[in-house]
Amino acid sequence: MSASEQKALAAAAALDFVESGMILGLGSGSTAELFVAQLGEALASGALEQIQGVPTSENTAALAREVGVPLIPVDQASRIDLTVDGADEVDGRFRLIKGGGGCLLREKIIANASDLMVVVVDETKLVSDLGAFPLPVEVDPFAFTITAKKVFDALRAAGVKNPDINLRRKGDGLDPFLTDGGNYILDCACGRLPDADDAAEYLSEIPGVVEHGLFIDLARVLIVGEDGGARVMEL
Ligand code: 5RP
Repeated sequence: MSASEQKALAAAAALDFVESGMILGLGSGSTAELFVAQLGEALASGALEQIQGVPTSENTAALAREVGVPLIPVDQASRIDLTVDGADEVDGRFRLIKGGGGCLLREKIIANASDLMVVVVDETKLVSDLGAFPLPVEVDPFAFTITAKKVFDALRAAGVKNPDINLRRKGDGLDPFLTDGGNYILDCACGRLPDADDAAEYLSEIPGVVEHGLFIDLARVLIVGEDGGARVMEL
């Protein structure tokens, strides 16, 4: 079974957590988009009603409109019942690396504001130690080289031997990639993060860091698409 088939299985299983009338945080990336598409089908068939979505990216917002998922402006969401989102890596404590698609700030704001975060992944995302996937760190463009040096120092202090930090660029390889919020992303290749909790804490202390891609203590449910089915795990 391909990774995208496994993602579709995980996304379908996440629908079981959705009830009519909910306000839903809609994550970003291919797995979250599969969930949004299936949510649209459930609304069209009448299996679910009166769902309001809060998208975590412009791409997800566009897809939601296309498949008929009603959206509300985030500032009008009185609550967020549930967020369903993907991840780039997940460890055994449901700690995540996110931001491969560059949406980590909005994803974290919405996940943090939600009563429940359900993470949907294919099995390639499961790791024993975080860090093989380069950690995205969203930074203010102002003085980003100074911030990058601070990020390097923070990762060293958290036990990473030789962090390799690169400014994410657009497809043309020239211009910096810009997040929906107009920030830069530093992709921090760590190899392995010996202490992800320390790394998260140290990165949060740097003034130019807008947000980092370590999601700690946010996911409570993990759904892994595997050959033959979806495995649902709860912390
Ligand atoms: C976007 C994200 C995505 O959730 C993450 O990159 C996983 O993407 P995909 O579901 O396409 O594998 O954090 O910023």
